[in-house]
Amino acid sequence: MREKIVTQEYDQVAKIYDRRWNSYNTKTLTFLKNWADIPPQATVLDVGCGTGEFESFIIRDNPNQQITGVDISEQMLLVARQKFIAHPNVSFQIAGASNLPFANHSFDIVVSASAFHFFDDPVAALAEIKRVLKPDGKVFILDWCKDYFFCRLIDLYLKMFNPAHERCYTQAEFHELLTSANFNIQRAAKFHFDVIWGMMVVEL
Ligand SMILES: C[S@@+](CC[C@H](N)C(=O)[O-])C[C@H]1O[C@@H](n2cnc3c(N)ncnc32)[C@H](O)[C@@H]1O
Repeated sequence: MREKIVTQEYDQVAKIYDRRWNSYNTKTLTFLKNWADIPPQATVLDVGCGTGEFESFIIRDNPNQQITGVDISEQMLLVARQKFIAHPNVSFQIAGASNLPFANHSFDIVVSASAFHFFDDPVAALAEIKRVLKPDGKVFILDWCKDYFFCRLIDLYLKMFNPAHERCYTQAEFHELLTSANFNIQRAAKFHFDVIWGMMVVEL
């Protein structure tokens, strides 16, 4: 049910998404790219890939990186596909985080940026990420962090006024979810930028 509302919301904003979120995307995705330091030969899955901006940052340095992006918004994926017409190694599919259309142990790396707080069944999403990850694979998740005052405020505001919003997590709540899903947290950080945003990141 919630997925439908999220899909509608992102279908509507897809054409202006990159312009509206340019500064936020540049900061968060550059951070994630540097933090994850993905080897050029790794196969990568991006869950909630949106308009493929993370893929753009990766491909600038590693033009042959094998990356698959999934998202529930066909319009966001349309924008993403247009960016990578010349890159057959980058592909996009419509799929929800809780139902990934890939065989077990398909990817070396799974990433997800600014999307986890939308997942209406985070436990199922984490189980799916674990299933499609190779046994020695790595996961990097970046998302808003409710330990920061403005994030708590935004979370409250969105809960009241935006039916697409699921929930933000504190770092402790997020880590609890991850360990319950049998992930080992290898590295974790949280940081603040642009007054409002409080983010957290994990390597699993
Ligand atoms: C804030 S955007 C972030 C997009 C991209 N990761 C980025 O950082 O530019 C969140 C994206 O997550 C997608 N999304 C939300 N819930 C999802 C789900 N359950 N499965 C897959 N994608 C989802 C939305 O459609 C949207 O494109």
